[in-house]
Amino acid sequence: MLLYYSIINMDVAGLQKKIGKPLVFALCLLPFIVLLVQLLTNKLGANPIEAFTRQSGEWGLRFLLLTLTVTPFRHLIGQSWPLRYRRMLGLFVFFYICIHLSSYIVLDQFFDWSEIGADIIKRPFITIGMTAFVLLIPLALTSNKNMMKRLGRNWQRLHRLVYVIAICAVLHFFWLVKADLYTPTVYASMLGLLLAYRLFKTYRST
Ligand code: HEM
Repeated sequence: MLLYYSIINMDVAGLQKKIGKPLVFALCLLPFIVLLVQLLTNKLGANPIEAFTRQSGEWGLRFLLLTLTVTPFRHLIGQSWPLRYRRMLGLFVFFYICIHLSSYIVLDQFFDWSEIGADIIKRPFITIGMTAFVLLIPLALTSNKNMMKRLGRNWQRLHRLVYVIAICAVLHFFWLVKADLYTPTVYASMLGLLLAYRLFKTYRST
C-alpha cells in the first residue's frame, strides 16, 4: 500500500514538473490571446481601444494579486510547489502592464509624447499608474536566479516594492472610475487581506 502510494505520489510530482510550467504559461497567456482576437475581429464593443486598454490593465491587476497570493496559499496547504510558479506569474504582471501601457501610447495617444507627458503630470490616475509601472521595472529585471543570488538579502527588500505597486495599482483604478466603485473596492479588499496577512506574519516572526 505504501509502495503504491509513493508510486502515485512520485508520478504526480513528476507530471507536475514536466507539464506544470508549460500549462501555467499557456493559461496565463490565454487572456491576451482572447483579447487580441477580440480586438482584431471587432468584438470589443463600441469603443474597442478603451476596452482593450481597460481589460489588459485589469488582467495586470489580477495577476498582481495572484502573485501576492502564492505565499499565503503555500502556507495554507503546507507545500512548497506553488513557489515554482511565482516568478512566472510576476513576469506576466509585467507583460500585461506593458501591453496596457503600449495600448495607451499607441492606440489611445498615437505616440503623441507631449500629450502623454501632460497626462502624466495633470491626471492623477495616470501619474500613479506610471509610478506603478516604473517600480515594476526593477522587479522584472531582477526576477532571475542570477540576480537573486547577487543581491542576497537586498533582493527580498527590493521585491517588497510589489506591495507599494499593488497599492498604486488599486488607487489608479479608484481614481479613474467616476461612479461605480464596486470592482475597484473588490480588488482593494483582496489587497487589504493580503497586506493584513503579510503584516501578521512579519509581526509574529519578530
Ligand atoms: C501596475 C500598473 C498598472 C495597473 C495594474 C493598471 C491597471 C488598470 C486597471 C485595473 C484599469 C481599469 C480597468 C477597468 O476599468 O476595468 C486601468 C485603466 C487605465 N489605465 Fe492602467 N494600470 C497600470 C498602469 C498604467 C499606466 C502606466 C498607464 C499609462 C501611462 C495606464 C493607463 C490607463 C488608462 C488610460 C486607463 C483607462 C482606459 C480608459 O478608460 O480608456 N495604466 N488600468
